[in-house]
Amino acid sequence: MVKDPTNLFSQQRQKEIYLQGLEGREPILPASPKALRKKAGEKLSKEAFGYLAGGAGMEDTMSSNRRAFKSWEIVPNMLRDVSDIDTSIVLFGKRRITPFLLAPIGVLELFHKMADLAVARAGAAEEVPVIFSSQASVSMERCAAEMDQESRWFQLYWSKNNNLVRSFVKRAEETDCEAIVLTLDTTMLGWRPRDLDHAYLPFLEARGIAQYVSDPVFREMMQENNLKMEDQSTFSLSSLYTLYKMSKNYPGSTLGNMINRKPVKAVQTFINTYTRPSLEWDDLPFLRDLTELPILLKGVLSGDDAMKALDYGMDGLIVSNHGGRQVDGAVAALEVLPSIVQRVDGRVPVLFDSGIRTGSDIFKALALGAEAVLIGRPYAYALAVAGEAGVRSLIRNLRAEFELSMGLSGCRSVDQLSAGKLRKRKNIE
Ligand code: FNR
Ligand code: LAC
Repeated sequence: MVKDPTNLFSQQRQKEIYLQGLEGREPILPASPKALRKKAGEKLSKEAFGYLAGGAGMEDTMSSNRRAFKSWEIVPNMLRDVSDIDTSIVLFGKRRITPFLLAPIGVLELFHKMADLAVARAGAAEEVPVIFSSQASVSMERCAAEMDQESRWFQLYWSKNNNLVRSFVKRAEETDCEAIVLTLDTTMLGWRPRDLDHAYLPFLEARGIAQYVSDPVFREMMQENNLKMEDQSTFSLSSLYTLYKMSKNYPGSTLGNMINRKPVKAVQTFINTYTRPSLEWDDLPFLRDLTELPILLKGVLSGDDAMKALDYGMDGLIVSNHGGRQVDGAVAALEVLPSIVQRVDGRVPVLFDSGIRTGSDIFKALALGAEAVLIGRPYAYALAVAGEAGVRSLIRNLRAEFELSMGLSGCRSVDQLSAGKLRKRKNIE
């Protein structure tokens, strides 16, 4: 009997879109990544778009990320019965319907007023794990409350205060996060010309600090800081306009915030503590002792660092260059993925991000050994264009496109994706 492929997700998704067209309805998102980015640019202020789309320096790392994807080509095989395609993976003991997660992206309020709440709901509805950022606009507790039992992880920025680190991890456990992602590559913000030219850093407007101001340890720190600050003039942060902007973004009434000046205290406390350039390998045991949750290190780009991570008892790696936002002229994350996978040799899962835009990109990263990938900027563009529904659409599109990349290349399950499916292209401009 001939099997019916109409139960494939991709076939349903195409039908959904084309039938809507028949009724005169256009998709809420452009399917092309470039058009999506452009449309987000039309919606956003130049500061918000610059922060999202931009990278470090000449943005060469961002270009390299894309070039690395283009340098690999898929060699499809034919006549393999792909009427049944399984895109699922097992990661940290749980089956997931797709091999992708939503990357931690800070300050989502710049792109849509529902910010992290919209992303949490979209991820939960489409059964794609969401990684809450330390720089989120909505606290992890509020986001988790929207997600029922669906998977969430927590991304940690290690601040100067270990009590705050402890508190973040405890809250992540209490909100049923399934893993801690420690981001290593942003102990300082990279040199980002777009933000510099706009003289724009969202945190100074009290944006992207929701995990902090909702934290009991951070609130204590604000109090202590307050005592120290009493006599000092608070320089430009105290100008009326700045105070107004911060107060608008801070929880509570704008007027009340302007009077009690809590936002100024919060921003100053945050700026003084949120990064810790002195972080080193020997700090990891502190985190390891705090939690039984799996810990993944995000931002690993060298095989030696990957080996060290294993020595320190880490449970996973995310090969990433932070989407080219940190070191300009850094190696493309995809370039180093195969050698890191080889060194790790299956001992812990190796995940990947930086440059994923399409289903074929997911195919390539998995074929080169990643167990799963993180979707970054594309979902933030989708959020900007169409909020929660936009993020859902993006997830559905990527899921459909990935399934088609598999099926049309002759693969029925993710374990069939291997380097043998790819060919390295010689000349690439
Ligand atoms: C990020 N990224 C990030 N990573 C992280 O660990 N914590 C964070 O708070 C943020 N914030 C953030 C904000 C914005 C606007 C962007 C674009 C990125 C990095 C993110 O998790 C991921 O590594 C990159 O987005 C991957 O690159 P592409 O695929 O988006 O180009
Ligand atoms: C960034 C930080 C928030 O990339 O990770 O802007």
